[in-house]
Amino acid sequence: METQIRDIVARYFNPSEIENVGVFNGRVIITLQNAAEDAAKTKAVEAEVGALEGVSKVSVIYTVAKAAPTLRPEIEKWQVRGVKKIIAVASGKGGVGKSTTSVNLAFALSKLGQKVALFDADIYGPSIPTMLGFEGVAPISYDGKTFEAFEFKGIKSMSIGTLVDRSQPLIWRGSKACGAIEQLLTDTNWGEIDVMVVDMPPGTGDIQITMSQRLNMAGAVIVSTPQDNALIDAVTGVNMFKRVDVPILGIVENMSYYVCPHCGSRADIFGHEGAQTTAAELGVPFLGEIPLHIDIRANADAGTPIVLAEPDSPYTKAYMEIAAKLLDSLK
Ligand SMILES: Nc1ncnc2c1ncn2[C@@H]1O[C@H](COP(=O)(O)OP(=O)(O)OP(=O)(O)O)[C@@H](O)[C@H]1O
Ligand SMILES: [Mg+2]
Repeated sequence: METQIRDIVARYFNPSEIENVGVFNGRVIITLQNAAEDAAKTKAVEAEVGALEGVSKVSVIYTVAKAAPTLRPEIEKWQVRGVKKIIAVASGKGGVGKSTTSVNLAFALSKLGQKVALFDADIYGPSIPTMLGFEGVAPISYDGKTFEAFEFKGIKSMSIGTLVDRSQPLIWRGSKACGAIEQLLTDTNWGEIDVMVVDMPPGTGDIQITMSQRLNMAGAVIVSTPQDNALIDAVTGVNMFKRVDVPILGIVENMSYYVCPHCGSRADIFGHEGAQTTAAELGVPFLGEIPLHIDIRANADAGTPIVLAEPDSPYTKAYMEIAAKLLDSLK
């Protein structure tokens, strides 16, 4: 089937532009690299491939291979004192639940006995201070050089929101971002930390690439919703980390399905299993699904992540399972 699909695509595009053809449960995802976007050709490929027996859905994704900025050996990695392993929680797209996932995974890892730090690197929308209740609080420095990490229910935390002025335009924040992130990471007294979870800025721009190269990352977790658009961005996210040799620990499907708070019935609002399919196609682990549930949002807003607020809920169980998988793959 894959050869057949490749032959069809090759009639419209240069074979060297075909990056990947993935087939999973009747779903076909064709990834083209550095190809000129062409709506007519896309339609034609979708129609021809879609007519093949057993194919239920076809998506054509255009990706651009940026030459990975090469890390010169003399460029040093950022030294984050006391921190053993760093996990990035990233998404190609904003608003998919990266911060909610970061916070809950941090507490889930802590429940599994790890000493955990949560670093908020999201210069565009630092939300960890609100979620952990240190919004608007300046970090303490005893020596005028280093900051004390905030501590909340057993985990250490620090946010770029404490250094970067959110009232400034995005471009300004972006240009200052890497320096500010490095400073905050290296100048914070974290204590002894087994795992640091980093809530990354959404997207795959220069800041994200620099962070992925400069931080000694043990791996990245990609958060996506099941919608096609989010999944396409998730693919871009996976590819970015692969290009800078950061292992992909897996994909989490957030807002996987809706649970009615009244009757408990379930609805697949954004479709279902999209992230699972994408993970299979990309050959990266699928870590689990988190439903869209009002308690997840309400507890996050109230300053206590659901993993702490409702320890026996199925949602906490879902986060705990993902955290256990992460620990396993970090070994
Ligand atoms: N599984 C879920 N169930 C219910 N609400 C959720 C869930 N995940 C996230 N939310 C809510 O959706 C909104 C966006 O989530 P969040 O802030 O975690 O996304 P994000 O990817 O970090 O966004 P941004 O790109 O703006 O940083 C928040 O109000 C959050 O409470
Ligand atoms: Mg966020």
